[in-house]
Amino acid sequence: MEVRPDDVWLVTYPRSGTTMTCEILWLMMNNLDYEKAAKTHMFHRRHFLEFFTFLHEQTQDLNTYPSLHDFPIGYRLAASAPSPRLVVTHLPLSLLPPKVVDVARVVFVARDPRDVAVSWYHLLKMYRCFDFVGDFKEFWKLFMEDSILFTPFFPRLKETWVLRNHPKMLFLFYEDMIKDKPSTLNKISSFCGKQYSQELLLTLADHLSIDMFRQNQSVQSVLETIPGMNNEGGEGFIRKGKSGGWRDYFDEEMRLQAETWIQRNLAGTDITFVF
Ligand code: A3P
Repeated sequence: MEVRPDDVWLVTYPRSGTTMTCEILWLMMNNLDYEKAAKTHMFHRRHFLEFFTFLHEQTQDLNTYPSLHDFPIGYRLAASAPSPRLVVTHLPLSLLPPKVVDVARVVFVARDPRDVAVSWYHLLKMYRCFDFVGDFKEFWKLFMEDSILFTPFFPRLKETWVLRNHPKMLFLFYEDMIKDKPSTLNKISSFCGKQYSQELLLTLADHLSIDMFRQNQSVQSVLETIPGMNNEGGEGFIRKGKSGGWRDYFDEEMRLQAETWIQRNLAGTDITFVF
């Protein structure tokens, strides 16, 4: 795939803050045009590379979602899109065009895998095209075994961490982003080559508050618009927006397993998740 020098690529594991970061990047690439952002669904403001290649095959077989066919696959749309492009992907760097970090600008967002797993569990239960039916304990076991969509979790984190000081790479933690939005926004604006007053950054931070975001129709998942897609009892695409919520889902056994799993996988690195 062609990578363009003025591309911005946002690379994440799902449920790590992709949508929030995407909104920030799009706004900074478009002169903070809130009006256009509100009027144009996120789906049409960025190119989600692998969308819709990962839906449950049943969705395709049943052919019950005719509107799915209205959405061409992201990388095809991206190929003919005008510059500058905002490209979003949940694929790891090692599966992307090898020169992406040298040619384009890349933003990676990392999040504590325990919070990622809880959030991913809710999403995979919520939409019929994924239809995860087990409880969280089963989900967590499968997550650690690399048997959940887009796992394994750690190799992408480690391969990107090594490049974190590359001049064309911005490595962010979700935990830092929500703890101190203005300072994160400062970092992102410098990376994008933009300068904003403190007042503009505070307005943007306000726009990103979880309550505002929940009500913002243009950042909701496009899956929600597909008739019959939503299972009952879902907690929503923009959900809690907090760090450390995993504690409510892990019993003592899972907590210890998680600690061992994380320590084993991060051994030899200086990556730490802080919240
Ligand atoms: P939770 O389910 O823990 O609440 P992604 O966009 O990569 O799918 O990430 C989704 C996660 O980011 C969800 O986490 C979601 O609630 C959270 N999120 C989305 N917008 C947010 C915002 N403006 N501020 C804080 N968290 C946000």
